[in-house]
Amino acid sequence: MDLKSKIVQQNLPQHIAIIMDGNGRWAKQSGQPRLFGHSNGVRAVREVTEASAELGIKYLTLYAFSTENWNRPEMEVMGLMSLLVDTVGKELDTLLKNNVRLRSIGDLSKLPNSTKDALERAILKTKDNTGLTLILALNYSSRWEILDAVNKISKDIRNGFLPGDINESVFSNYLSTVGIPDPELLIRTSGELRISNFLLWQLAYTELYFTDTFWPDFSRQHFYEAIDSYQSRERRFGKTSEQLETS
Ligand code: IPE
Ligand code: IPE
Ligand code: MG
Repeated sequence: MDLKSKIVQQNLPQHIAIIMDGNGRWAKQSGQPRLFGHSNGVRAVREVTEASAELGIKYLTLYAFSTENWNRPEMEVMGLMSLLVDTVGKELDTLLKNNVRLRSIGDLSKLPNSTKDALERAILKTKDNTGLTLILALNYSSRWEILDAVNKISKDIRNGFLPGDINESVFSNYLSTVGIPDPELLIRTSGELRISNFLLWQLAYTELYFTDTFWPDFSRQHFYEAIDSYQSRERRFGKTSEQLETS
């Protein structure tokens, strides 16, 4: 059965976030170094980005490097950083061709200059694109993001720029995801059942989808399966089913 044709356009998530996990274990299965897993994960990134653009999804957020990932062996960290430079450089033309706008969340200031430059260049070049917004979470952690927002808020209060109460909408404006709607669907690959410091505020009412597939094996069909699962769920937001039926 062609899963793509099952997808209901009227009930498409606007924003899908993905914790791309399992590259290391995927490589280990075939006796390869962990970095081999990371470079093979790029194919899945390309496939999911293309599929999102085709379906008309507006935002796709990919967790590419967490604040905690600095604790990995230096060789792996450096390998990941140069893979990022390489990939962003190689994919830039395709992003432009497919009308994809690149954005990032996370503290880019701590990234090596070459990685930061490649990223900033691609963000600038794609800034006027109007199709899919592809958001890379890099040196990102949700607790960092929340504390960063709190510090900015307290500074603005001290300087008299923020007179009123802080409500959800004011707070959201201080997060790195400002202007981006919360994800309706979160996918995590590789069988791990945790959030790993990702989008803690934004995931408040997100539908969670976990699959055992390792990220380098994740294909369009797996992506459609996740969307199909999302579309079969009832999102109640605290209400009862009966209330939803009558509204
Ligand atoms: C995800 O795969 C990629 C990053 C965290 C950068 P992992 O490298 O975490 O792979 P496993 O979880 O060790 O298999
Ligand atoms: C989460 O994966 C971070 C990314 C996918 C970039 P990890 O593999 O680092 O997560 P934990 O540490 O196992 O929870
Ligand atoms: Mg992992």
